[in-house]
Amino acid sequence: MTVAEALSSGVERLGAAGVDTPEVDAELLVAHVLGTSRSGVHADRDREVPEEFEELLERRSRREPMAYVLGEWGFRRLTLKPDARALVPRPETEVVVERCLLLLRGEPEPRVLDLGTGTGAIALAIADEHPGARVTAVDSSAEALALARENAQALGLHVELQLGALEAAADGWDLVVSNPPYVTPAEWDTLQPEIRVWEPRAALVGENLHEEIARRADTRFLVLEVGDGQAQNVAGALRSLGYLDVTISRDLAGKKRVVEGRRR
Ligand SMILES: C[S@@+](CC[C@H](N)C(=O)[O-])C[C@H]1O[C@@H](n2cnc3c(N)ncnc32)[C@H](O)[C@@H]1O
Repeated sequence: MTVAEALSSGVERLGAAGVDTPEVDAELLVAHVLGTSRSGVHADRDREVPEEFEELLERRSRREPMAYVLGEWGFRRLTLKPDARALVPRPETEVVVERCLLLLRGEPEPRVLDLGTGTGAIALAIADEHPGARVTAVDSSAEALALARENAQALGLHVELQLGALEAAADGWDLVVSNPPYVTPAEWDTLQPEIRVWEPRAALVGENLHEEIARRADTRFLVLEVGDGQAQNVAGALRSLGYLDVTISRDLAGKKRVVEGRRR
């Protein structure tokens, strides 16, 4: 099969499967099997595409998330290995890391906790971009933690990994960061199959965890990712708990997705 044929069959099959972005996804799959970029795909449309394309296209047609199909996913400066043991890191979470790094600027060896680490994305990005930071990553899922460990080893980054839950926030930190589950059970039923069928429900569905973490945290800084529409409530909760300098930041789409505050 040539590149031109693979793109045309990919767009048709992904479109029929209800994928939102069939053209982009077909290009990404062809690029992946050819070891090139999306734009590189069009350099030679008569080039033969390896057979592996067919298997990847079939997986994506079953609405498996692109990140799981590709087996690699960019997050800030890192390439992570995502799979069904943990949530696929989202672009808005890169802004969460940005806020943490700004708060930690000038701190030589801050103690940082990433609560609910999943693939390890936030913890590993902080360890990568603030080499002095002593980062601990906690998750209540042993499967997610195993994946975070594999990512840390593959990247050669040191992060302390611990099976645990919200109590970890009370341990005395310079910064606690968390992207906790914040999707309501009713919202869950309305989500795309890529999320509802493939990603771990326990990574996404949860209520009032922001406030619970803020209440328990013994930390100088707290940085929380929130769902679209949740920022004002979470900021209000932080203020009522006595947090200072409570700030809301927007993601690249302009949505209010990060709330931070200072405890002392
Ligand atoms: C929304 S995912 C975030 C994953 C990763 N930090 C990211 O931003 O891509 C939430 C993570 O929190 C974990 N989790 C859920 N409830 C938890 C709890 N009570 N204590 C610790 N971790 C929890 C889940 O297993 C999941 O890995």
